[in-house]
Amino acid sequence: MPATTGLEGLGLDTGGHLLVEHALATLPPGDQLTVTGRDPALSIHLAAWCRAQGHRFDGGDPPVITKGQAGQQRWHGAVRAGEAAGPPRRSADPRWGLAARGALVEAGGPPIGAEWADRDHVWADIAPKLYAAAAAAQWDPATAADWSAPIALPAEVEHAVVQIMTYLVENEQAALIIPARLLSQIHPHFREVMQLLATQAADEARHVEVFTRRAMLSGGPLGTSGAGGRASLQTLLSEPDFTTASFLLSVLGEGTFVDLLRFLHRHAPDPVTADVTRLALRDEARHVAFGVAHTAHTARADPGYLGVLRQAVERRHAALLNTAGLGSEVFDALILLAAGSWEPQAISRGWQAVQLLQQTMDEGRRRRLAYIGFPAGEAAELSALHTRNFM
Ligand SMILES: [Fe+2]
Ligand SMILES: [Fe+2]
Repeated sequence: MPATTGLEGLGLDTGGHLLVEHALATLPPGDQLTVTGRDPALSIHLAAWCRAQGHRFDGGDPPVITKGQAGQQRWHGAVRAGEAAGPPRRSADPRWGLAARGALVEAGGPPIGAEWADRDHVWADIAPKLYAAAAAAQWDPATAADWSAPIALPAEVEHAVVQIMTYLVENEQAALIIPARLLSQIHPHFREVMQLLATQAADEARHVEVFTRRAMLSGGPLGTSGAGGRASLQTLLSEPDFTTASFLLSVLGEGTFVDLLRFLHRHAPDPVTADVTRLALRDEARHVAFGVAHTAHTARADPGYLGVLRQAVERRHAALLNTAGLGSEVFDALILLAAGSWEPQAISRGWQAVQLLQQTMDEGRRRRLAYIGFPAGEAAELSALHTRNFM
């Protein structure tokens, strides 16, 4: 006695095929299914459908069909793209392509051309948590600062703020391009890292916006862009290795920037400058946290990697040896900002504050380098080789 499915008035061309498939799913190949229904074209449509789906149409009234092998053959050789829940696999198969993590992947699709398919080259256990925190912490540049607050600073102080903002924007642009480039080459199996880098790029896009807006607030032209600073940033853009790029940008560069933003927030001469530096600082802390966690993860998995990172710092230092590093315009603007006026005593305080800032930056870099696994002496050496442009 064959199984039966009733379509009632439903045509096979108006959704009835779902009921037939549903009934066939419970049967082994070779079993028969009787299909009843009132649609006048049922038998004609069913015969055509069976040919297309690899089942046999046996005819009769009501019509009977025999389940074929094709459905099972299609999924022969299919594999799971890892597990949907839990940590990603150590190594992701390029043949999984764009399939969701945990999906059953039909054989024969196009492989993904991702550069990084090994977990240790991109991963940090903190990535899922950092992504969730980043998604929850997105802020609106239009309302996060009070753009209508009057700006009434002495002309020189305003000039210093504009110069610093101009410098920040070019650094933020480099910091936007790098995670965007890296995330496009990660195997999507490591989706939390992709997602985190996407929020990081979105963070940098906002930083570019708010620093530009603050620079434009007094209506004047923007400040200068030194060749040495741009050369320093350019070396970051061309770094081909994920871990090395993450190390140079996030551990050393953004790590140093965290101290710079804190300094700018503390010495901000107006509420908008205070707001935009505070907001950027909060985001940067996450970028640094991922860079440090990922680099430490890679160095733990392969202690030889510390040598690769060391060479990258030395290479960058050698490439920038004949450049000015931080432009004197930016350096002087930092002093003036901390001074607040042109009184010699104020300038002296400002100069000391910038000396202290550089010392704080150096201590921060050494601490992060030590966390990653560098012995204290080597951490101090590498910190001293870091670009004078800060990022
Ligand atoms: Fe930023
Ligand atoms: Fe950043």
